[in-house]
Amino acid sequence: MEVKTPSQTEITMSELVLPNDTNLLGNLVGGRLMYWIDIAGALVASRHSNKVVATVSIDNITFKHPVRMGEMVIIKAKMLYAGRTSMSISIRVYAENLKTGSTTLTNKARMVFVALDENGNPSPVPPLLPETNEEKADFEKECSIRSKK
Ligand SMILES: CC(C)(COP(=O)(O)OP(=O)(O)OC[C@H]1O[C@@H](n2cnc3c(N)ncnc32)[C@H](O)[C@@H]1OP(=O)(O)O)[C@@H](O)C(=O)NCCC(=O)NCCS
Repeated sequence: MEVKTPSQTEITMSELVLPNDTNLLGNLVGGRLMYWIDIAGALVASRHSNKVVATVSIDNITFKHPVRMGEMVIIKAKMLYAGRTSMSISIRVYAENLKTGSTTLTNKARMVFVALDENGNPSPVPPLLPETNEEKADFEKECSIRSKK
C-alpha cells in the first residue's frame, strides 16, 4: 500500500459566520463549529485512505476564544498518525476578523476516523510517513497515547 505524508492530504477549509450560526450574543455556536470540524477531518481521512470513513472519536476539543458573527473561520486539518484501519487527525481553528485582518487561534481538537469497506467493516489504510520535526513529534506523541489505551 502506498505510503503517504501528512502534507499530501492536509486541508484548509474556510467558512463565513452568518447570523444563523450564532447564539444570542452573536458568537458562533459550538455545534456548528463541531459540524465543520467533522467535515474537515473526514476530508483528510478520505484523502489519506481513498475510502469511505466514519468518525469514531473527537477528543480534547477546546474552545479558547469565541468566534464572532461576520468573522471567517479557517479550519486546518492534518494527519497525525495512521493505524491499521484508523487515522488520527489534528484540527486547528482560527478566526479571522475581515475588517482588521487579525487572526486568532480559537480551537484545537484531535479526531479519529476509521476507513470502511463496502460492507461497512474497518478496512486497511496506507501507512503515514511524517516528514518534518513537528510531524515526527506529533506521530510519536500519538503512538504513546495509543499505547496507553
Ligand atoms: C467504525 C466502526 C465500524 C468500527 O468498528 P469496531 O468494531 O470498533 O472496529 P475495531 O474494533 O476493529 O476498530 C477499528 C479501528 O478503530 C479504532 N477505534 C475504534 N474505536 C475507537 C475510539 N473510540 N477511539 C479511537 N480509536 C478507535 C481501533 O483501535 C481500530 O484501529 P486500528 O485498526 O488502526 O488498529 C464502528 O465503531 C462504527 O460503526 N461506529 C459508528 C461510526 C459512526 O456512526 N460515526 C458517525 C457518523 S460518520
